[in-house]
Amino acid sequence: MKAMVIKKFGGPEVFEARDMPKPEPGPTELLVKVFATSINPIDYKIRQSGSWAGVQPPAIIGYDASGVVEAVGDLVQDFEAGDEVYYTPEIDGNPGTYAEYHTVDESIVAFKPDNLSHAEAATIPLAGATAWGALIPRANIWLGETVLIHGCGGVGSLGVQIAKAAGARVLVTCSDYMVPLAEELGADRAIDYKAEDFVAVVEEETEGEGVHVVFDTVGGETLAKSIPVVQAFGVMVGIVSSSIDLRAAYSKNLTLHTMFMQRDRQQLDVLRTLLEAGQIRPVVDSVMDLEEVAEAHRKLEAGGIRGKIALQVAAE
Ligand SMILES: NC(=O)c1ccc[n+]([C@@H]2O[C@H](COP(=O)([O-])OP(=O)(O)OC[C@H]3O[C@@H](n4cnc5c(N)ncnc54)[C@H](OP(=O)(O)O)[C@@H]3O)[C@@H](O)[C@H]2O)c1
Repeated sequence: MKAMVIKKFGGPEVFEARDMPKPEPGPTELLVKVFATSINPIDYKIRQSGSWAGVQPPAIIGYDASGVVEAVGDLVQDFEAGDEVYYTPEIDGNPGTYAEYHTVDESIVAFKPDNLSHAEAATIPLAGATAWGALIPRANIWLGETVLIHGCGGVGSLGVQIAKAAGARVLVTCSDYMVPLAEELGADRAIDYKAEDFVAVVEEETEGEGVHVVFDTVGGETLAKSIPVVQAFGVMVGIVSSSIDLRAAYSKNLTLHTMFMQRDRQQLDVLRTLLEAGQIRPVVDSVMDLEEVAEAHRKLEAGGIRGKIALQVAAE
């Protein structure tokens, strides 16, 4: 099978097209013909130096997939050949999805949303499950609450829509080029983080009351700077390394969640329901061919992306 392999850790130039053996499914695994994958920041972080994730070059990376089940292991119960599926594979040193075929345990796979192409569906699992996991099980957002989301990239653009679907009022920080799209996705106020002071804007927008929830997809000082605009007993969820003054958080009785996304079928099922109902939609910046993966990595690392970049592996 064709695959794009990193021959060593380094810049985007380490990708190389190789002919690799087609994998065979284990007893509880599916063999999936991959039609599309997408790229996430974790892909370029692993490409740069991924031994922390158990990756050893030469390796196939890539952590989203949409495709069709070609064969199933003896103990598989819920899928059969021909099913259209989408998922985000475990990382732990396993081969990724920048390849024509991929094997995956059935427990983390869900049926693909019917109303999406494979390229669109492949942009959802990792980013969508992260946004869902942060806002619903962790932050437990509630009808009428106000949520501040930092960043409107792959994760944040789905986070805005999930928070709106849950009935929240949504404020989001983003670059100027994303302001119109963020508002189109449902943000009640998109704050240009380079031109505006988000603390002042949130105070004005909430008439000094502050927000119930902060979801940070940016990291660094962002969560710490947000403490003054969270209500007492509020919730903060961070998915990127942050520095935060715990004393300030104690004084407001804040609940802090750090999160590394978990893979399971249930959250992909919920996302499919929302997608098929039109309550959320994929935000696709561009679709490139798998062979263009090096260029796709350059684009994502440079920033200025509106949503996600999908990689087409096979024609639909
Ligand atoms: N813990 C987990 O399980 C988990 C899961 C998924 C992702 N992540 C991490 O979460 C981060 C975001 O992922 P992603 O897929 O959304 O990345 P992404 O698509 O690259 O989006 C990041 C967005 O943040 C914006 N941004 C940068 N600095 C900002 C600031 N100071 N204020 C507001 N927005 C800012 C960027 O806009 P510009 O164009 O201005 O740069 C970009 O739109 C990455 O570091 C990723 O590795 C963690």
